[in-house]
Amino acid sequence: MSERRVARSRRFLVCEPRHFAVQYAINPWMHPDRPVDVDLAQDQWQALIRAYRAHGHTVDTIEPVPGLPDMVFAANAACVVGGRVFGSLFHAPERRPESDQYDTWFKKAGYDVYRPESVTEGEGDLVWTGRYVLAGTGFRTTREAHREAQEFLGHPVIGLTLVDPYFYHLDTALFVLDDDNVCYFPEAFSPGSREVLRRLYPDAVLATREDALAFGLNSLSDGRHVFIAPEAEALAGRLAGHGYVPVPVSLSEFHKAGGGIKCCTQEIR
Ligand code: ARG
Repeated sequence: MSERRVARSRRFLVCEPRHFAVQYAINPWMHPDRPVDVDLAQDQWQALIRAYRAHGHTVDTIEPVPGLPDMVFAANAACVVGGRVFGSLFHAPERRPESDQYDTWFKKAGYDVYRPESVTEGEGDLVWTGRYVLAGTGFRTTREAHREAQEFLGHPVIGLTLVDPYFYHLDTALFVLDDDNVCYFPEAFSPGSREVLRRLYPDAVLATREDALAFGLNSLSDGRHVFIAPEAEALAGRLAGHGYVPVPVSLSEFHKAGGGIKCCTQEIR
């Protein structure tokens, strides 16, 4: 029924959850009174890293910093395309110090880092598709930042408005399957943005709110394997029907902070 999907090996930057916690509430998932099991979080995170490496991906790490419990969500620190690092400026004051940490890492790795003037949360909202950037706005990253990203990256940036506070970052409502297709939950977007997605991706794999609430859209595809929350079983089944190979990895402890697989993973292109 479906063609054979081809994996491309990737390079990721991740941050160990040594200091991970839910200490403040900046999205509807976060309840500081509900404890996080840090040992379980560590085990889940290690399993994700093992799964990436087992599938041929390169994983670099940044040293976690005490007092920055959300630093584990490496995706939010930058959007890197063609070696250009578009840095971050977090919406929440609690997260703002993370940008310096990641910028330092990138500079040491030999990259120049562009520091945006408007609120931007990296790959949380700026999703590289292979041809252009899909850019979320509505809760975190601003329209002004979309313009900055387009100017700096030199690729078209297509703005999409998010409307459901549970899916406050674009990467909680949509992920890229390969250069030609995406998977998304339509109701997370404004009517106009939904129409844009329909035009760009008439053959997209559509997800339900249940799939999205299970963090099924916070997945990462290498073109063939889709690292996906096992809680999003129905979506994994549908992706398998399209010829993708689901690789289930549970990051349930991270869901308590409103994050999942993609949030924990920065891709360096
Ligand atoms: N607690 C973090 C926040 O609200 C979670 C970030 C999740 N990251 C993501 N790429 N969606 O900012």
